Amino acid sequence: MSIPYLRAAGTSLVLDARGTGVPVIVHWGADLGDLNGAMLTTLADTSVPAIAPSSIDVPLRLTLLPTLAQGWSGRPGISGFRPGRGSLAIDLRLVNVRSGERPMGRFALPGTQTLTLLLEDAAAQLSVRTELELSVQGVLRLRHTVRNRNTTAAGAAAFELGSLDVILPVPGRARELLDFTGLWTHERRPQRSTLGHGVWSRESRHGRPGHDDSYLMVAGTPGFGFRSGEVWCTHLAWSGDKRAWAENSALGFSVLGSGELLAPGELGVAAGESYSTPWTVAVYSDAGLDGLSSRLHPWIRSWSTIRTPRPVVLNTWEAVYFEHDLPTLARLADAGAHAGVERFVLDDGWFTGRRDDRRALGDWFVDPVTWPSGLHPLIEHVHAAGLDFGLWVEPEMVSLDSEMARAHPDWVLGGVPEPSATETPALTWRFQRVLDLGHPDAFAWVFARLTALLTEYPIAYLKWDHNRDLLAGSTHRQTAALYRLIDAVRAAHPGVEIESCASGGARIDLGILERVDRVWTSDTNDPLERQEIQRYTGVLIPPEYLGGHLGAATAHTTGRTSELSFRLATALFGAAGIEWNLISASAEELGQITEWITHYKRLRPLLHFGVVVRADPSDPALVLHGVVSRDQNSALFAQVALAAPRDAVPERMRFPGLAPERRYRVAPLLLGGSPRTIQDTPPAWYATLSGSAETPTTPADAASGRGSVTLAGAVLTLVGLPAPLLAPEQAALFAVDAVD
Ligand code: GLA
Repeated sequence: MSIPYLRAAGTSLVLDARGTGVPVIVHWGADLGDLNGAMLTTLADTSVPAIAPSSIDVPLRLTLLPTLAQGWSGRPGISGFRPGRGSLAIDLRLVNVRSGERPMGRFALPGTQTLTLLLEDAAAQLSVRTELELSVQGVLRLRHTVRNRNTTAAGAAAFELGSLDVILPVPGRARELLDFTGLWTHERRPQRSTLGHGVWSRESRHGRPGHDDSYLMVAGTPGFGFRSGEVWCTHLAWSGDKRAWAENSALGFSVLGSGELLAPGELGVAAGESYSTPWTVAVYSDAGLDGLSSRLHPWIRSWSTIRTPRPVVLNTWEAVYFEHDLPTLARLADAGAHAGVERFVLDDGWFTGRRDDRRALGDWFVDPVTWPSGLHPLIEHVHAAGLDFGLWVEPEMVSLDSEMARAHPDWVLGGVPEPSATETPALTWRFQRVLDLGHPDAFAWVFARLTALLTEYPIAYLKWDHNRDLLAGSTHRQTAALYRLIDAVRAAHPGVEIESCASGGARIDLGILERVDRVWTSDTNDPLERQEIQRYTGVLIPPEYLGGHLGAATAHTTGRTSELSFRLATALFGAAGIEWNLISASAEELGQITEWITHYKRLRPLLHFGVVVRADPSDPALVLHGVVSRDQNSALFAQVALAAPRDAVPERMRFPGLAPERRYRVAPLLLGGSPRTIQDTPPAWYATLSGSAETPTTPADAASGRGSVTLAGAVLTLVGLPAPLLAPEQAALFAVDAVD
């Protein structure tokens, strides 16, 4: 037991927990196979390094909570002070280690292996409990809980926590880093760097992860891709301020660290009290980023709230913005119903006085002017058309121009100065302020309003938005209150689904994902932007969560015009919906949308519960991605040209994830017409499917097996098929089905 060894799904972790020192992770990475006690002892013994010149006089070990007291001069695992007594030299000792399977609420998943370590620093009067779990899918979760064991008089007994972080070792060969940045409508832009000595640190001070959220911190062997390379990655399951870093110390260690970013004085742990860090989720793969997804997606699905096929949504935002009126919205619902839409979501603009984005947040009553009979007539119409109904809310926010702010200025985070006061009011953002959810009355009021709406109206779904940074010194209390609020709403209305939105994708993390059924991936419906955003957001989050909408031909966020086939092929690979004024669509477009929805519904089990795969094309202008069913019976792939290709004849499409020994039928799937190609003649195999260069086959052909080619899985994966010469901003879909 003093050398616990956890193994699952090709991953293993060995912990040297002998003696009284803080335990050391001897290995986190590939499965080491069946090791008995003696072999583990030898592994742990031989992991003790040499002592370098000009260094501490014992071998330096990187522990689970490294501190100066252990000779670790990198970023510490824990820091803090007692008021008036200066910084604490924290020196923890191991008290005990417990292991086994134990109940963990929703995460009480069969087969999860757990370890709980208790550490104490008697002099500092602190203890730390470290929980570590390895799921059957090979996903590691860790968190620390620090307890202030000082029992003397209050004030001086407080422990002001500076930082408490999960730090994991990665081998020196993991020199290449990948993390993410971005901005509104351009979330999750990958950035790569090479780790030299020092710290590559990403911090979020938005009070939400932000559009530039680091999202994942991945360290891998140089050149790792979607399908190759060894990678180690961490993600912090937290929706407030946080930091994630990679450090390569000249002492000879590389680590990944993550934890909540605490403001000075933000987290005083009172005598006898404790603070738990958010969970750090950590995954290893020897098969690149897809290998990470192949562990993360099944793990997330094992505790997901999603139980039913993801309905096709029609969202009113880009269709009508704030122009709400019953006849128009009823026509929109009818057009959606006709096309096969299953859920109608009334976005921003329905509550008292909300005519634009400058006012009324907080006044969560249905506007009596626009809706003299409440939302009942609209909801009845929507229901009669066969759709369920969803409603947009932004419960954490307040407009200064609102009845709520006028009645309760003390509920506004950061306060509202008296009109006569000389102090500068706090900044607004999108003309709004933040509601202080840590204020019990504000919390109770907004909970009561949400509950009243959900009780009065048959609302199946809330789109829960959050449209500004907090710009507050400390955000822990607000984030914790947000979680309590969502949990309370869900407990009171268990049937209601929730979508998390934050100006698009500014709050996508596993802390929020535990509580919601969908995330709004980005405010852009431009398929070109979406291809990249969805591809990288999908490394962590399974596609059934990722809202993707068919927008108007000319994207509202970029002004770029895209063809219907490209927009349909892009929105298909997620929780699909429409955000376009269908009333203005042509009959031909409506027909193509209807057909698209039919195929989406048919493909849903594959698209939402299959294995996500992404090839590593050598030309960055080309993307090949897909979903393969878990039994490898069927797959859908998209070959996408983001820009003009590098080569006149692009490399072959190699379809990952198929069973090598099985034979598959490959057939193009046309949705919204043929993708535009620029080729004198298509590849021979493609042309022979129908004899026509530009219309290779119809969906009906594809469904019936006409117009297809059959090859072994190994051939499709290793050799591939020549690609049609797609024009820029086009996508070709391929249905791949096993024939034996
Ligand atoms: C945010 C969301 C949008 C929309 C608007 C409404 O920008 O991301 O989808 O709901 O708010 O104001």
